[in-house]
Amino acid sequence: MGDLQGLRIAPRVPGDIDRLGRTFGPSARAYYLDRSRRQGVLLVARVGERAVGAAFVSTEPAPESAIIRHLGRVPMLHRLMVDASLRRKGVGTKLIAAAEAELRRRRLWRVAVGVDVDNASAARLYRRLGYREWAHGLLETIREDVKDGKTIAVPDVCHVFVKYL
Ligand SMILES: CC(C)(COP(=O)(O)OP(=O)(O)OC[C@H]1O[C@@H](n2cnc3c(N)ncnc32)[C@H](O)[C@@H]1OP(=O)(O)O)[C@@H](O)C(=O)NCCC(=O)NCCS
Repeated sequence: MGDLQGLRIAPRVPGDIDRLGRTFGPSARAYYLDRSRRQGVLLVARVGERAVGAAFVSTEPAPESAIIRHLGRVPMLHRLMVDASLRRKGVGTKLIAAAEAELRRRRLWRVAVGVDVDNASAARLYRRLGYREWAHGLLETIREDVKDGKTIAVPDVCHVFVKYL
């Protein structure tokens, strides 16, 4: 646990976007920068000056009509990431707990997350934390990526997990 001594999870402060870029690379940096200008909160896990993880909690209406139809305006978790060298030590769990606490603080009582069909380990993590797959099958979605500084939309298919907080 030595590497994680002093771990702190908090909403983004100045310098965090650059810290995230140093840990996760330029495309993640651009993604988090774009998201941080939109509705929601960017949570950053830090050890000293090093960003070791992040998650964005969006409070915008989801762009997928199926989400709106079945869940209405539900907050969504996006781009949960932990530094590859520090995984399986509980940082992801703590980021998810911090996202849930932030939503409760805002008196929002549900959260949803899309998990790629090939991401069994993330699905297991969410299930362990009380998330359940919705009853409406796979979601055809648009994954937002950043290429050459521009946000681009990539078609994707994912499981949708929901938790009541
Ligand atoms: C998914 C991801 C964020 C998880 O982060 P993480 O920090 O490894 O998450 P945790 O350590 O909290 O949990 C991962 C597993 O380690 C286990 N674990 C947690 N602390 C542990 C410890 N001290 N010792 C041993 N195992 C531990 C957890 O029980 C969990 O097991 P499970 O998968 O069987 O439920 C990380 O793997 C990642 O960045 N993946 C790439 C991006 C991604 O796929 N994001 C998800 C998008 S939906």
